[in-house]
Amino acid sequence: MKDLPIGVFDSGMGGLSVLREMKKLMPKENYIYYGDSKNIPYGKKTIEELRSICIKIVDYFMEKRVKAVVIACNTATSAAVSELRSRYSIPIIGIEPALKPAVEKYEGGKIAVLATEVTLRERKFNELMNKYKDRAEIIKIPAPKLVTIVENGIVSGQEAEEAVMELFEGISVDEISSIVLGCTHYVFLKDIIKKVLGENIELIDGGFGTATNVKNILFNMNALNDSDKEGNIEIINTSDDKSKIDLSYKLLNI
Ligand code: SIN
Repeated sequence: MKDLPIGVFDSGMGGLSVLREMKKLMPKENYIYYGDSKNIPYGKKTIEELRSICIKIVDYFMEKRVKAVVIACNTATSAAVSELRSRYSIPIIGIEPALKPAVEKYEGGKIAVLATEVTLRERKFNELMNKYKDRAEIIKIPAPKLVTIVENGIVSGQEAEEAVMELFEGISVDEISSIVLGCTHYVFLKDIIKKVLGENIELIDGGFGTATNVKNILFNMNALNDSDKEGNIEIINTSDDKSKIDLSYKLLNI
């Protein structure tokens, strides 16, 4: 059991930012990363479509005998985590926009949440937002273009800068205390976001929190890998474009 892999999936490249945190925290684990670039963007799909995609992916992981599945995608988590947990007996760990740490740090401040339309619209996020709405001003900003940019391997340069500028047009950035990156793709654009909006804005994402959560769950199951060697990472991608695999390794090592 201990040396079985952990399955991690996302609509494409974004979940690699979560895998990177997991790898740092649990280097001895073996991982299978499933990038579903063929079906990107998840943020434009219906809930039914997303649930059926997620079930297919977790079925694949079950065949590979993983010991846990990490949904390294906010959109897929909001659409399918409950359904997946009721179907499978292994731990299914999701990710959600890190609003709690943002509000705790910037009580009374203005917090922007960048995510896909599905994440911002779904019940899961709106329940989270209701919980914190009296403690901070929360503004939702859908940012589908940033997903496409990262998916194409663009993490610096003019195109990325312009896409960030566009998102904040008409918004008084000086009043924003922090930005929650509610999509795992956006983590790769942290430097660009800071360059465009200013170094003082804190960017908060859920990658480290999710990795810590996975570690605690495996520890409690006595399932952490105790090998004395570093684990393997196998990356697969559903796209016909074979360059996605090279891009995945590149992003993982940024
Ligand atoms: C997307 O595929 O639209 C991005 C999904 C996400 O990471 O939330």
